[in-house]
Amino acid sequence: MKRRTDLTFKHDLTRGRYGWLRLTPAYSLKMVQRYLSASQQQLLDPFAGTGTTPLYAAYQGLEATALEINPFLVWFIKVKTAIYDEHVVDELRAVGKMIVSRFDDNSLQPVAPPPISNIERWWPESALRFLRSVKGGIEEYRQEATSNEVLDLLYVCFCRILIEISNAAFNHQSISFADDRQLHLFDERSRYKTLFLRDIEFVAASALENPVTVPRIIQGDARNVASHVQAKMDLVITSPPYPNRMSYIRELRPYMYWLGYLDKAREAGELDWQAIGGTWGIATSRLSEWTQSKASGYYPEYFQEILDRIRDSSNKHGAKMANYVARYFEDIWQHFNSLVTVLHTGASVHYVVGNSTFYGVLLPVERLYKEIMELTGFSATAIEVVRKRNSKKELYEFTVSGKYL
Ligand SMILES: C[S@@+](CC[C@H](N)C(=O)[O-])C[C@H]1O[C@@H](n2cnc3c(N)ncnc32)[C@H](O)[C@@H]1O
Repeated sequence: MKRRTDLTFKHDLTRGRYGWLRLTPAYSLKMVQRYLSASQQQLLDPFAGTGTTPLYAAYQGLEATALEINPFLVWFIKVKTAIYDEHVVDELRAVGKMIVSRFDDNSLQPVAPPPISNIERWWPESALRFLRSVKGGIEEYRQEATSNEVLDLLYVCFCRILIEISNAAFNHQSISFADDRQLHLFDERSRYKTLFLRDIEFVAASALENPVTVPRIIQGDARNVASHVQAKMDLVITSPPYPNRMSYIRELRPYMYWLGYLDKAREAGELDWQAIGGTWGIATSRLSEWTQSKASGYYPEYFQEILDRIRDSSNKHGAKMANYVARYFEDIWQHFNSLVTVLHTGASVHYVVGNSTFYGVLLPVERLYKEIMELTGFSATAIEVVRKRNSKKELYEFTVSGKYL
């Protein structure tokens, strides 16, 4: 079994709109392609993330609905799947150049830094100054902007640059002029400008690659799909959070702070507590108090034994982690119970999920999904091993599929 990075976010990084922002747990458009059939269908992605599914569907001219709980991602999917005309893109290029030349003149009014704790760990001082100035330029443009579309695209470019020049940058190539501080600073400034202009061009060019249809993007909770989705669906392609302690807030928080979706550390924990599988901040301490409810979940004997082994493991967080896993599957149970009320008979569903381990105890995530599907009305359920995940030999990604009958 191979790693198949072509099925991960890596494949999409250079592919136009798909690559606008990186999200490590995102899948690639090839995963959607794999399960989408040619006939016209009502497609739903209840855990839309960065919107790979709705974007792909929109390029094929299909009707798609995307549900996502994170307000920043909801905004981002809308921007990523919108239709732009040439005037908008021309203006984006012009405003981008104007901001860069005003940065050279020192005539931009920098905004205050966002309230991220230990901000200096994220950005070196020169990068922070650049970002504050560029954001100041965008805010100034906002005052007289006639088009929200240009603003939205500028914010996407801003999100790209803020990660590229952060200390958390992926594949960051640092240029070192250690013994000449002035030259170092000068060079960093021009590197930031070059990268920002490159981002503007990347986003501008792909903004012109318009989809055929515009998907419906809804901010909502997949545990209660029925309260957000009225039409009946006949295909679901999705990747829910995995029960592996990975918090989306962790990766998204720099964007969310800079764009005003978060302004207190506590809010990040609150948002993550609402998301399935969240463990950030306050979400972790709440897990200690949480109690499982057999009435609102699926607890076969083997699963209960797994929970007991996690709880009893010698690790001091064992009890909390057992609650984490139990709560995760109660949420997934609720999700499927609600999902079936918005499906046509004969609808196909495909869930891309990863398994995980807790203190050496393997959690058979794919098996639990398959059984939950069967109990909520799906037939012809199947587990396909899609790829190997990382160096831990027991970790895989699966697609669990079924037909609603
Ligand atoms: C694995 S990611 C999806 C990635 C997506 N396939 C992509 O290509 O970008 C799972 C998503 O589910 C979202 N999510 C978590 N809990 C949710 C809930 N209760 N309702 C809706 N979305 C939720 C997370 O915010 C995250 O964006």
